[in-house]
Amino acid sequence: MKKQIKMQRNFLKAEKWIKWDDLDRDQKKGVSAPPMTKDYPEDAELIDLIPYDQLKVGDSSLKKIMKQRKSRRKYSDQKLSLEELSFLLWSTQAVKENRNKRAVPSAGDRHPFETYLYINKVENLNKGIYRYLPVEHKLIFIYNEDDLNVKIAEACRKQKFIADSAVIFIWTAVPYRSEWRYDVLAHKMIALDAGHLCQNLYLASESVGAGTCAIGAYYQQQVDAFLDIDGEEEFVIYLASVGKIE
Ligand SMILES: Cc1cc2nc3c(=O)[nH]c(=O)nc-3n(C[C@H](O)[C@H](O)[C@H](O)COP(=O)(O)O)c2cc1C
Repeated sequence: MKKQIKMQRNFLKAEKWIKWDDLDRDQKKGVSAPPMTKDYPEDAELIDLIPYDQLKVGDSSLKKIMKQRKSRRKYSDQKLSLEELSFLLWSTQAVKENRNKRAVPSAGDRHPFETYLYINKVENLNKGIYRYLPVEHKLIFIYNEDDLNVKIAEACRKQKFIADSAVIFIWTAVPYRSEWRYDVLAHKMIALDAGHLCQNLYLASESVGAGTCAIGAYYQQQVDAFLDIDGEEEFVIYLASVGKIE
């Protein structure tokens, strides 16, 4: 067997848990926990989303939407409403209570992700890259440039359908949030956690007449470069395109 394949398989196994008590973990050493969300400038203009208790979308039966869920790569020209986008963001990352509880689980409650969006077709929002604030349930506009949807699709190994979507979700990992607790065990946890995000996005999208496609095929450095991140302490881990379906 190729050495690298063996190494990668080992990454998926849970053998290191035997050494849990001996791991030199920052949490065990008493290092204070890192912030659970990324900061934003004090003077940033925050864009309101629709709060959970005012959402009128997303009431389809779970049984029905699980049956109809599939990866959808054909999107209509119809825009998502701000309410629909609010629901998708709430379903994937919003902090539900004062504590760090969200609609998705996360190993050790670490929630090591940030959510960025490329908004292409959403009512009342200009095109461009935005960041979601999960505690405030608000957005920050970051920037726009011509044909960003096409450029992102190119950086996702030229998967052209991505450029036609209404929104591209771009999730980054901030690995230290999990490493602080799990040290060398963190990385498998982060990969497992990422799956929950996207599954909730699939289900929430179906429930508002939209479709999602998970995107794992992308060029790391090219996609990182669309966001103001260092590629080490924060890097893109997963994307998903979302759009209204006929
Ligand atoms: C981790 C992951 C990465 C994926 N990456 C891509 C991708 O880059 N492009 C794509 O078109 N589909 C991608 N998919 C979607 C799969 O192709 C799809 O889930 C699979 O074919 C099963 O089809 P279904 O989702 O309709 O049941 C990905 C799915 C997962 C879970």
